[in-house]
Amino acid sequence: MTKICCIGAGYVGGPTMAMIAKKCPEIQVTVVDINEQRIAAWLSDHLPIYEPGLAEVVKEALGRNLFFSTEVDRAIEEADIIFVSVNTPTKTFGEGAGCAADLQYWELCARRIRAISTTNKIIVEKSTLPVRTAEAMERVLHSGDNPVHFEVLSNPEFLAEGTAIADLEDPDRVLIGGHDTPSGQAAVRKLVDIYATWLPREKILTTNVWSSELSKLTANAFLAQRVSSINAISALCEATEADVTEVANAIGKDRRIGSKFLRASIGFGGSCFKKDILNLVYICETYGLQEAADYWRQVVLLNDYQEARFVKKMLKEMFNTISGKRIAIFGFAFKANTGDTRESPAIRVCRALAAERAKLVVTDPQAIDNAKLELPELLGEIEFEEDPYKAAEGAHAIALLTEWPEYKELDYEKIYASMDKPAFIFDGRNLLDHKKLFDIGFEVYSIGKELRSHLK
Ligand SMILES: NC(=O)c1ccc[n+]([C@@H]2O[C@H](COP(=O)([O-])OP(=O)(O)OC[C@H]3O[C@@H](n4cnc5c(N)ncnc54)[C@H](O)[C@@H]3O)[C@@H](O)[C@H]2O)c1
Repeated sequence: MTKICCIGAGYVGGPTMAMIAKKCPEIQVTVVDINEQRIAAWLSDHLPIYEPGLAEVVKEALGRNLFFSTEVDRAIEEADIIFVSVNTPTKTFGEGAGCAADLQYWELCARRIRAISTTNKIIVEKSTLPVRTAEAMERVLHSGDNPVHFEVLSNPEFLAEGTAIADLEDPDRVLIGGHDTPSGQAAVRKLVDIYATWLPREKILTTNVWSSELSKLTANAFLAQRVSSINAISALCEATEADVTEVANAIGKDRRIGSKFLRASIGFGGSCFKKDILNLVYICETYGLQEAADYWRQVVLLNDYQEARFVKKMLKEMFNTISGKRIAIFGFAFKANTGDTRESPAIRVCRALAAERAKLVVTDPQAIDNAKLELPELLGEIEFEEDPYKAAEGAHAIALLTEWPEYKELDYEKIYASMDKPAFIFDGRNLLDHKKLFDIGFEVYSIGKELRSHLK
């Protein structure tokens, strides 16, 4: 029986391994983590992450061939294949601080694997890593006098939070990078065979290790670039009475451009886009490619600009003062269908509004607990409220920051009646029916569209 160990039971390790366990009952999959609370949560009825459909997949395989454990060493020793799916955040200290990837967790894993292993193993990079990380890892793994052979593969994960299960069940592609050596190719074949259990072979791409590592950073950079591109146009729309939804629709019909990821908003968030682009910037700089670095950095700067522009607009429309005004924040997760708040635009928007001394009340269907962790300095000042109707009661404004579909279905007449007047809605995701809101009586600000105001 093939035994897989996955180090890191997070947003990637948990769902990907649950899917492999579901699809391959003959493989034993053990997911380990040093975070005891997280492992306990995977074994409970309240999984540590919210992801539609995940609970069912975990339930099907848990205890059969899917295990969660804190016994990292034992799982390493027993495994034939080790996926490493630990976090690789932006470095906050030393050389490359604020830009480079912090590889300390990855390297610790490599050292642990080297120390524990007594049999040959395939090590799979599941985390997103700088191009050529496998080279450094191979050096760590093969240093010292352990005769064990480690074959390092790159197998980046392309799932998106909120649709992780659907993405894993039917991905656009799976990417596996391996060395062009007999042992490298044998390892690639072994991993291909696992994914081929449920995916057609033509969806499984094999490349060299470096192309695979770089493709993940490049994919995230291109996706984020589309968001920043349409957001740059949204600013111009507001200045010219063009409508960004109409522009996006018109350009998206061009098959060379395509219609996805062209939705103007307060900007992208999540744990990956910003860190991965900054990582790409840092790598370009390391190779002396300053112009390429500047080009990609601009995608992040535009995202910062879009958030700042939103807050400025709120301030300006609300008569240049929000001090003491109650503002309901509709949605704190970085996108809909997840409780993840890492790098959510809501964090910076709330901080900026709090700095203007607004009285904030945050509501979100899944992310309230995480929201509290994101704003420790404001606990006590910010109110958290599960019920959006209560959050809006007595508020001067609603700022919609996450595109939760349920926010479309709320009774805005009831909400309007309970708010202070004039009642503002700032729709940071262009989710709502703006004309209808305006007709109810709201002052409506959206992204890249005309301002609908009764006060003009
Ligand atoms: N979140 C996403 O949507 C997504 C998508 C694709 C790729 N990725 C990449 O996948 C990687 C993991 O991301 P994530 O969102 O799952 O992170 P996460 O923070 O949710 O999970 C990482 C886990 O690794 C554990 N860990 C860290 N060091 C460890 C060690 N030495 N031993 C055992 N466990 C250890 C942590 O306790 C944590 O639970 C990152 O490189 C990320 O860029 C993330």
